[in-house]
Order: sequence, then C-alpha cells, then structure tokens
Amino acid sequence: MTDIITEQATAAASGAAATEQFRAKQRAETADVDTKRVDTLVSELLTAAHDIIRRHKVTYAEYDVLKSWLIQVGEDGEWPLFLDVWLEHVVEEVASENREGSKGTIEGPYYISDAPQLPAEAKLPMRENEEGTPLLFRGQVTNVVGTPLAGALVEIWHADNDGYYSQFAPGLPEWNLRGAVVADDQGNFRIHTIEPAPYQIPTDGSCGRLIAAAGWHAWRPAHLHLKVSAPGHQLITTQLYFKGDEHVGDDIASAVKPELILDPGPAVNADGREVTYDFVLDKA
Ligand code: DHB
Ligand code: FE
Repeated sequence: MTDIITEQATAAASGAAATEQFRAKQRAETADVDTKRVDTLVSELLTAAHDIIRRHKVTYAEYDVLKSWLIQVGEDGEWPLFLDVWLEHVVEEVASENREGSKGTIEGPYYISDAPQLPAEAKLPMRENEEGTPLLFRGQVTNVVGTPLAGALVEIWHADNDGYYSQFAPGLPEWNLRGAVVADDQGNFRIHTIEPAPYQIPTDGSCGRLIAAAGWHAWRPAHLHLKVSAPGHQLITTQLYFKGDEHVGDDIASAVKPELILDPGPAVNADGREVTYDFVLDKA
C-alpha cells in the first residue's frame, strides 16, 4: 500500500488511463464517415496547415521537431489530454448552439460511467480525513418551463484538494469524489463534498513540453464536473467553477463560461461553504 501511495502521478500513467477509458466508452451515436465529409474536413485541415507553413516559412528543422513531438504524444498516451484541452471546447460550442437550457462545457478525459448510485441527499465517497473545504452543492433539475424532473440523475466527479482524480492518479480509493446522485420527486439534490483544488494538466509529458516551449501555463481553474440527465431530455455535460479562482479568466482548456461560475456562501449550521445551482434540461 505504501508503495502505491508514494507513487508519483505521471503524465504517462494518467495519459494511459485516459486512453484506456476513452476506448472503453461507447458514444450514443457513431459518426457518419461519409467519403465526402471526410474529404472536406481533412482537406480543409491540411490546407490550413499548408497556409501556416507558407506564411511562417516553416523549416525542415521545425518540421522534424513537430514530427518527433507528435510521435511522443502517441507514445505517452496523451492524445485524450491534448484534444480535450485544446479542441473539445469548440466541438461542445457547436454541439450545444441550439440548446435553451443550462450551459454545458467540455467533458475532459476523466469521466467514468457507473459510479456508485447515491440518494438525493448524499456525501460523495471520500477518505476519512479528506482534505479541503467542505462544500454543500445543492439544486433542482427542471425542464425548460420549470417542471421538476423527478429522479433526474446528477453524476458528479471532481479532483481532490491536491488536484488529483481517482482512477487516474495513484493511491486514491477507486470512487473517491465520484457519485451518481438520484434527485428526489421534486428534482432536488443535496451533495456533500469538498471543494476541489485548481488542476494542472500533467507537466512531465508531451503536453507539458508544448506548454513550456510556448511559454503558456498548465492550469485549469478548480471545477466540479457534472452530467445531468432525465428520461426524454437531453443529457447535459458541464463543469462549475468558483468565483475568485485565479484561473477562471485564463483556463488552459478554454472551458469557462460566465454562467458556470459559482459563488458559494458560508454553510448554514455546518463547516465550509454551500451553493445552489439549478439545472434546466431541454427536451430530447
Ligand atoms: C483535462 C483535464 C481535466 O480535468 C479537464 O477537466 C479537462 C481536460 C486534460 O488534462 O486534458
Ligand atoms: Fe477536470
């Protein structure tokens, strides 16, 4: 056990776990890989790259650096991390452009389905002395005209006080800070957890090398991840952030929206803080 606990979180280990997780996941719809669509998308992507090479007179030395970096991203298993940090936010923007209900944002690489089911008022699985400010996160799930969605499912997962996700960093209990909360007959839920810490994408792998080479920073603001669903309604994948967080204005993954920033107050009759956030789901 001690060995596991002292083992360091590495980009290669979390990248490998994220890659494995992505491969195991089944999306509801599979993409239509129509020849014409592939031709259009890939041709335009390559044309954009050709234009950049011409405009900036990219050298053979630079081309070789790119080639070796791309090879390394694959070897490190960091493609899920790279894509979810630098591309997913635009895919999400397009996917949700006609939605009326609550805002969504990127899923990121660390969702695991089938977390333990919990009742409408529940404490997330956590270690006995889990570090971090206690947080009561509560709210209601309704449709777009305000009708409560009884029994809506509120799946939540987030990093711990050190910025680590269970099942992707070593030494954490399997379902630490992950749960699937079933709302009551009024769509209400009350989730007792701790506030996550800001998250730094792994700096010791190829994404980290890119960040250092470009002089960027590796931070995401602290966030709760959620998937909220109810029969007959569109599932929403989102994240919620905390007002005052240093990185709310410069998220490396560009996933913050003003509607997603929480402003918790002191908890009533308890330690820590509490906040209410209601979810509005569009019809399927
Ligand atoms: C990444 C990690 C996250 O926790 C997240 O929410 C989004 C992206 C990443 O490392 O790619
Ligand atoms: Fe995250």
